[in-house]
Amino acid sequence: MHVFVLTGAGISAESGLGTFRDKGGIWSKFDPMKLATPEAFAANPLAVHDFYNLRRRNLLGAAPNAAHHALARLEKGLADQGGGVFLCTQNIDDLHERAGSRHVHHMHGELLKSLCSRCGARARCETELSILDACPSCGRDNSLRPDVVWFGEMPYGMEEIEAALEASEMFVAVGTSGSVYPAAGYVELARSFGMETCEINLEPSDNAYVFDRKFYGPASETLPVFVDEILKG
Ligand code: OAD
Repeated sequence: MHVFVLTGAGISAESGLGTFRDKGGIWSKFDPMKLATPEAFAANPLAVHDFYNLRRRNLLGAAPNAAHHALARLEKGLADQGGGVFLCTQNIDDLHERAGSRHVHHMHGELLKSLCSRCGARARCETELSILDACPSCGRDNSLRPDVVWFGEMPYGMEEIEAALEASEMFVAVGTSGSVYPAAGYVELARSFGMETCEINLEPSDNAYVFDRKFYGPASETLPVFVDEILKG
């Protein structure tokens, strides 16, 4: 069995990283148009760096939860059975990797990387970023940004994602509100390819009506049970 898994902020909620649109979520405290667009970075790079520096600090103090570990188990278990998982995450954290998932497609980039806006080089970054930092690759200063995809930018690896969807038999969305495109449209695409579609979320998402099967509750409880079911076949 080949399974396409799409994860969102909800899978990391129980690790203490905030979601965006729940009550008290990140976008209820911060304005995304002032912090998560190329225009915002051009207008106020200090504020944007501060926002992502804070999120980077939080991430370094967080740990994966049972839902991340369940997906790592699914990857290994399906590979042993001759199948596989394409794990596509909207999350910029590295909790899937820390839980043991080996192949993770970060369509919205990675918080623990910097991107040089002059030469395009990416580098591991676990410290604070500032406008004074020089790019480790081209040496120019005032050029580094977090390697994250902002509103108005194209997510990473769209062709690879669509090819993986087409090659899969089951689509599973975990902890995503289904409100940000293109990811929110993948369930419709999956249906058009004839795949079974499953939603695992705290509560029904905006797209809940499109899914064949739905499991509601904290992902740390529902996902391990769901993974057991898939691996038993
Ligand atoms: P949202 O904050 O929009 O949605 C999180 C979803 O997770 C909600 O439907 C919650 O009900 C659910 N949830 C919360 N806690 C959960 C738990 N313990 N177990 C299971 N589900 C839980 O986050 P995303 O859908 O990931 O993009 O948001 C998509 C994109 O919007 C993000 O990647 C980010 C954001 O703006 C950019 O910054 C470009």
